Amino acid sequence: MELMSQLLAGKTAIILGVANKWSIAYAIAEAYRREGARIILTYQGDRLKATVEELGKELGAARILNCDVTKPEELEALVSEMAGERLDVVVHSIAFANREDLSRPFLETSRDGYLLAQEVSSYSLVSVARALSPLMTEGGSILTLTYLGSVRVIPNYNVMGVAKAALEACVRYLASDLGAKNIRVNGISAGPIKTASARGIKDFSKVLDGVAAVAPLKRNTDPAEVGDTAVFLGSHLGRGVTGNVIYVDAGFQVMGLQAPD
Ligand SMILES: NC(=O)c1ccc[n+]([C@@H]2O[C@H](COP(=O)([O-])OP(=O)(O)OC[C@H]3O[C@@H](n4cnc5c(N)ncnc54)[C@H](O)[C@@H]3O)[C@@H](O)[C@H]2O)c1
Repeated sequence: MELMSQLLAGKTAIILGVANKWSIAYAIAEAYRREGARIILTYQGDRLKATVEELGKELGAARILNCDVTKPEELEALVSEMAGERLDVVVHSIAFANREDLSRPFLETSRDGYLLAQEVSSYSLVSVARALSPLMTEGGSILTLTYLGSVRVIPNYNVMGVAKAALEACVRYLASDLGAKNIRVNGISAGPIKTASARGIKDFSKVLDGVAAVAPLKRNTDPAEVGDTAVFLGSHLGRGVTGNVIYVDAGFQVMGLQAPD
């Protein structure tokens, strides 16, 4: 059943991290459109421009702008493009690590691979928050996507788990810095979802099967469920929540040992 509560009417949200229809950011954008938000999308460079413009049209996005978060000049250009806009919500749904660092033992992680994962997946939340929070003149909500691999060892998640641990710490420090401006900062820890990024992790389908077998809800996470939690955090309903990580994972993270049959 489609809810028509328009929880985000009158709000403008910028969503970073749509690459295709399977992106978690796309599911968030769909939920935001349903709730009446004005949506701005960004894409990572020319390679993704046409696809994201096409998806943006379907989503009724007001603007579609370029931004590779590893290029400070592109973040600056994004801010200039947005001059005069009021922003209410920033959705950061961006991560990257080299494929070889998501398959071999964590012990083998290279310095370059480690720094790359940190730069794209963790530091970018800091640089994006610093660049865009001045546009959040009436307060608002910044949210990012994280994963259980930050606090538990998940096979092959490796360097990305370390980046997510840093990301979750960034959420807490940014929440402290920006709270006086009534800007909230939170993470959504999503259960595993088959996306382009996830396919880069060795044996990812085994993780999906394992979670569906063990999670209290006995299934995997639907991206639309992440979208709805992002609506909550972006809306007035989430006004008391900051510095938090909310799990949207069919309950998997509460499980310890699975009782043997
Ligand atoms: N899929 C999962 O199982 C899962 C679970 C929990 C959390 N997450 C997180 O959700 C977020 C979105 O990932 P996804 O699974 O939707 O995959 P995805 O591949 O669809 O999205 C990743 C996005 O990051 C963007 N990106 C990478 N490097 C960038 C850069 N330098 N500048 C700008 N954008 C860049 C890509 O363009 C892409 O849009 C990530 O933070 C991911 O770690 C995913």
